[in-house]
Amino acid sequence: MTSVYAQRRARLAAQLGEGGIAIIPTAPERGRNRDNSYLYRHDSYFYYLTGFSEPNACLVLKADGSSTLFCQPKDLEREIWDGYRLGPEAAVSTLGMDAAFSVDDIDTRLPRLLENQDKVWWPFATHEGLAARVEGWLQKVRARTRAGALCPAAQGDVCTLLDEMRLIKDAHELAIMRRAGQISARAHIRAMQRAARMLRAGEDCREYHLDAELLHEFRQGGAEGVAYDSIVAAGPNACVLHYRADKAPVRSGDLVLIDAGCELEGYASDITRTFPANGTFTGPQRALYELVLDSQKAAIAATRAGNRFNDPHDATVAVLAQGMLDLGLLDKSKYGNAQDVIAQRAYFQFYMHRTGHWLGMDVHDCGSYVEMSEVDAASTRTDALSGEAITRPSRILRPGMVTTIEPGIYVRPAPGVPEQFHHIGIRIEDDAVVTETGCELITRDVPVEADAIEALMRD
Ligand code: GLY
Ligand code: MN
Ligand code: MN
Repeated sequence: MTSVYAQRRARLAAQLGEGGIAIIPTAPERGRNRDNSYLYRHDSYFYYLTGFSEPNACLVLKADGSSTLFCQPKDLEREIWDGYRLGPEAAVSTLGMDAAFSVDDIDTRLPRLLENQDKVWWPFATHEGLAARVEGWLQKVRARTRAGALCPAAQGDVCTLLDEMRLIKDAHELAIMRRAGQISARAHIRAMQRAARMLRAGEDCREYHLDAELLHEFRQGGAEGVAYDSIVAAGPNACVLHYRADKAPVRSGDLVLIDAGCELEGYASDITRTFPANGTFTGPQRALYELVLDSQKAAIAATRAGNRFNDPHDATVAVLAQGMLDLGLLDKSKYGNAQDVIAQRAYFQFYMHRTGHWLGMDVHDCGSYVEMSEVDAASTRTDALSGEAITRPSRILRPGMVTTIEPGIYVRPAPGVPEQFHHIGIRIEDDAVVTETGCELITRDVPVEADAIEALMRD
C-alpha cells in the first residue's frame, strides 16, 4: 500500500510542471550552549512529504514522481552518542524512496539531479542560508554546460504549492488532530482541578503548578510535548496576550487563563480555557465570560464550508460590540449602537486579536488567508487588526480546513472602564474542522459552559 507520504509526494510532483524539480530540506539542529542542543523538531513541509524526523536530511522530488532522499549515513560512533539512524539503504524501502544517499554527498550528487531540469522549486522563506546553497548547486550545473548540461532557468517557491495542500487536512491528519485535541482537553481538566484542590487545601498555588499538570498529561498521552509555550496566566497576567507560565500566585477570586496544546505526531492542538481559581465565578467575571462564550457560539455558527475565513471574526465582533455596550465597558452615550462600535473600531480596546488561525502541523499553520481564485477581485473590507483596506477577499472555507475559534476580552484599567471589570482577561479557544454543513469541534472534551466548569472544579 502506498503511504500517505508517497501519495502527497505524487500530488506535489504532479504540480511541478514538466522539467520541474523540488528541493525540500528538513530543519537544522540548533545549539543551545556547548554540547547541548534544543530539542530537535523536523521541518513541517519535509515531514509532510516523508514522515521522517531525523535531522540533516533533504528530499528531492522530480516532476516524473521520482524521490531521492539525502540522509545521515549509518555511523556506529555517532549512533552511540546521538541515537539510531535509518541510513540511506534502509530509507529506500522504509520511506518508499526511489533512491537515497548520504547527506555528506549532497553537494556532488544534487547538482547532477538538477542538470537538464527546467525549473527548480525550493522553500524561499523558511530555511536561512538555503538561497546561497541552491545558488551554489546551480553554479555547479553551469560549470558543466560545456559538457552539455542545461541549468534550470526558472525558480519557484515550493511552499506556494505545499501551503495549499497542507491547508486541506486529509483523513490521516484529522485522525491525529482529533487525538491531539483529546489529550489537550484532558490536560486542561487536570490543571483546573489541581487549582481547585490546592486552593481548597489552602496551599500556595502558582502558575507553574498548573503548567506541570499540563505537561504531565501531554506526555502521559504520548504527545511529544507542547505545540507552543503554554500560557498559564493568573489574574491580571491574562491581559498580557503572549504571557508564559511563570510563578505568579493563583489567588482565590481571580481567574486563570490557560492557553495550551500538545503536539502529537507532528500536529498541534490549541485550546484556551479561562476559569475561576477557586471554582466559582464572581458576578462580573461570569458576565464577561458569558459574553465571550456567546461570541464564540456566534463564530462557531459562522464556521462552515462556503463562508469566508473572516465571517467567524465578524460574528464574534458583532456580539462583543453589543455586549461591551450592555455591560458598560463602552459608553452608550458615545457610541449609539453596535454598528458605531464596529465602524469606529472601539471594541479594539478590549478585543485586539483575530478570532482564528489555521491549525495543523504548525500552531499558526500555513495556508493563504485570501481566496486564491479571487486574487484579482476587489474587496471593500478593512483589516480587523490594522484597520487598513484589504484588496483581496478573504478565503472561502472548505471541508478539511482546520481553524481555531478564539474570541476574548481583556480589560485594562482606563478612564470610564467600570472598576469591577479591571484586570479581567478571558479567552475561550477551540479547534474546528470545517465540514459541509458546519464544523466539528475537536477540543470539546474540556467543558466550556460556566456552570460545567464550576461543576468540574467541585469534583
Ligand atoms: N496559542 C497561540 C494562539 O492561540 O494563537
Ligand atoms: Mn490559537
Ligand atoms: Mn491558543
